[in-house]
Formats: sequence, structure tokens, C-alpha cells
Amino acid sequence: MGDLFFSLSSTLILLLTATELFLHARSTTHWEDIQVLKQLKNGIDTNSVSPGSCLSSWDFTVDPCDNLFSEKFTCGFRCDVVTSNFNRVTELTLDQAGYSGSLASVSWDLPYLQILDISDNLFTGSIPDSFSNLTRLQRLGLSRNSLSGSLPTSLGSLSSLEELNLDNNNLQGTIPLSLNGLQNLKRLEFQSNKLTGVFPELSQLSNLYLIDASDNAISGELPATFPASIFEISMRNNQLEGNIPASVTNLMYLQVMDLSYNRLSGSVPSGLFTHPSLEQLTLSNNQFGSIEAPANSVLQSPLISVDLSNNQIRGNLPWFMGFMPKLSALSLENNTFSGMIPMQYAFKTLVPGQGLSQFERLFLGGNYLFGPIPGPLMELKPGTVTVRLGDNCLYRCPLRFFFCEGGVQKSSMECRSFDPTIP
Ligand SMILES: *[C@@H]1O[C@H](CO)[C@@H](O)[C@H](O)[C@H]1NC(C)=O
Ligand SMILES: *[C@@H]1O[C@H](CO)[C@@H](O)[C@H](O)[C@H]1NC(C)=O
Repeated sequence: MGDLFFSLSSTLILLLTATELFLHARSTTHWEDIQVLKQLKNGIDTNSVSPGSCLSSWDFTVDPCDNLFSEKFTCGFRCDVVTSNFNRVTELTLDQAGYSGSLASVSWDLPYLQILDISDNLFTGSIPDSFSNLTRLQRLGLSRNSLSGSLPTSLGSLSSLEELNLDNNNLQGTIPLSLNGLQNLKRLEFQSNKLTGVFPELSQLSNLYLIDASDNAISGELPATFPASIFEISMRNNQLEGNIPASVTNLMYLQVMDLSYNRLSGSVPSGLFTHPSLEQLTLSNNQFGSIEAPANSVLQSPLISVDLSNNQIRGNLPWFMGFMPKLSALSLENNTFSGMIPMQYAFKTLVPGQGLSQFERLFLGGNYLFGPIPGPLMELKPGTVTVRLGDNCLYRCPLRFFFCEGGVQKSSMECRSFDPTIP
């Protein structure tokens, strides 16, 4: 009986030891990856590593991948057994714990890393050249830190990259042309930095659907072409000048274009108003002088919102916009439009029916419009739609009519000195 018990328990112990050895062998972190994790932790200011954060738990007396989600390595990365017997770090996603420090002291020799995300921390210094060692990287998230310096050309060698999020830092210098080599790139975000120079042609990025380069100091003209796959272009608040290239109207998937707060000039191309997918067009606060009237019907246009306010557009209001079926927000405020308000605009502020969307916002203030207030506007009840006709040359538009909001009408002297034919 005693013998039997002894031999059973020793078999059990042997089995357990074998299993443990096997498991341990399977889950050992590759030594190179351990080095990089150590370098990362050592590169971070100890003062910024708060109790309870992922990094405060990292304790290299035990194996990282083997102890992931235990109290020695609570969080911050992910491991996968990619080669036999070794665990490799495949994802490094730090928590938003206010870590500060530099990325430059790390060799970034993590050949299996697919995701690197250190967003919403206080990292400083520049983006290191050694990131080019991350050859399998699919997402690089450095958003909302305090990174400075210029974008390294070597970023262009991360050929698996699908998302590049560099927004809300202090990055400066030009956008390297090498990014045109990132053939798998889908999202490119570097809004709210201090980037300068001309925006490069990214014509080879056949999967790119989003560019956000807003709130920088990008200058020169828009690139002659954008990738055919593009869905959204936001380059608001830069120093772009020149015209909108007509090629933009050939971007068949474009839905959102925001180029407001630049120095763009010339004519707004007619193709934007007959475009098959464009829903939101924001060109306010530029120096456009005219709108090219489309030769074709606008009845198929999916445009919902058009903002051309604060430009220098002359001439009559574009009557065709009153026939755009989905258009519900139109701002032509603060230009130098003259002539009368098209009757169709007024009809479109009422519930128009016939598959036509109502104007919910119609901003026409700050122009030189004259003539009587169209009858249908007089029927509007306050609170139904927002209409602004203030600061024009309109008869009978006293502020007690809610649609006359936005400033008193200009004096007849001012109106006639702009256009002597204004009665
Ligand atoms: C890549 O990592 C190695 C270390 O293995 C390092 O010697 C090399 O400088 C790194 N590459 C770059 C571009 O920094
Ligand atoms: C038009 O100009 C007036 C006066 O400068 C300003 O108050 C208003 O906000 C401007 N409208 C828009 C849409 O920017």
C-alpha cells in the first residue's frame, strides 16, 4: 500500500515536472525581445512611472511573456509563439499613464512586432531611425505625445505599415517623400504638428483612404494627384496656396474634403458639385474668387454640407445649389455675393418633399445681396431652421425677423459703392 502510493505520487511529480518544463520551454521570451523591453523601461523617467501603471509592474527577475498578466508584468505588451520554443513580442501597447522619456535609447530590434502604440503619454525627443528595424509593423501609434524633430526618411521602409498616427506632437520639417513607399498604408494622420514644406505626391499608396494633415504649416500647392482610393482629405489650417487641381474631381471614393483656413484661390471646380460620392465640402477661410457652375445636372449629387464662407467669391448666388437633393447645410457667408436670393433657396428651407432634403442651415450673411425677401422665407417659424441673412443690402430685413440675424443690413452708401446698380 505504502509502496503503491509512493510510486503513484512520484509518477505524478515526474509528469508535472515534464509538463512544466515543456510549458516553460514553449513560453520563454526571446532574449533579444527581453533586451528591448528592458531598454524601454530604463529609458522612461522613473518619476513618470506611477504606481499601478503597466511599466511599474515590469520585473525582469522573471520571464516577461511567461508571466504576462501576472503581477510581475500586468500589461503593456502581447506575445505569440512565432518560432518554435520562443515567444516573441508582437504588440507593445502602453497604457495612458503619463510616461515621459525618449524613444531614442531603445534599439527597437523587435522583428515580430506588429503594433506599437504609446499614444497619450508624454514622450519627448525625436522619432528614432531605429524604428526601421520594425519590419513587420502594421500600426505605429505615437499620437498625443510631445515628440519633436523631423520625420525620419527611414519610416518609408516599414513596408507592412497600415496605420501611421503621428498626430498631436511637435514634429517639424517636411513630410518625407519616402512615405510613398508604404504600399499597405490605409490611414495617415499627422494633424496638429509643426510640419512645413510641400505636401508630397503619394500616388503609389493604392490602399490609402484617410489623410489628416490639418493644423500644420504645410505650404505650396496641393499635390497634383492623390491616391485613387482616398476617402477623406483633411488639410485644414495650413498655408496651402494655388488652385484645387481638377484631378481631385476624379477621386471616385472621396467623401470628405476639408481644406479650410488656407490661402487657396481661383475657382471652386464644378466637378465637386457633380461628384458621385462627395458628401462634405469645407473650403471656408480661403481666397477663392468664384464658383464654376456645373454643366451637368446636380440632381445625383450626394453633397450634404457645403461651406464656402469667408472667401472672396463674387457674382450671383449659385442657384444650382438650391436643386442639390441632399444638401442641408450651406454657408456662403462673408463673401462678396450680390444679386437676389434665388427663390429655390427659400423653397428648400421649407419641407420641400419630392426626395429633396430641407436646408437646415442656410448662412448667407455678410454679402451684398439685395431685393425683397423671398415669400417662402416669411412663412418660416423660429426654431425650425437656421437662416442668416444679416449684413447684406436687403430691404425689409429687420432684426425682428429671426432669419435676418447675423448683423444689421449694410448702409445704402456702402452697398452702392460696391455695386452702383443696387437700388
Ligand atoms: C537595428 O537593431 C540593431 C540591433 O540589433 C542595431 O544595431 C541597429 O542599429 C538598428 N538599426 C537602426 C537603423 O538603428
Ligand atoms: C462673418 O463675419 C462676421 C463678422 O466678422 C463674423 O462674426 C461671423 O462669424 C462670420 N461668419 C462666419 C461663418 O465665419
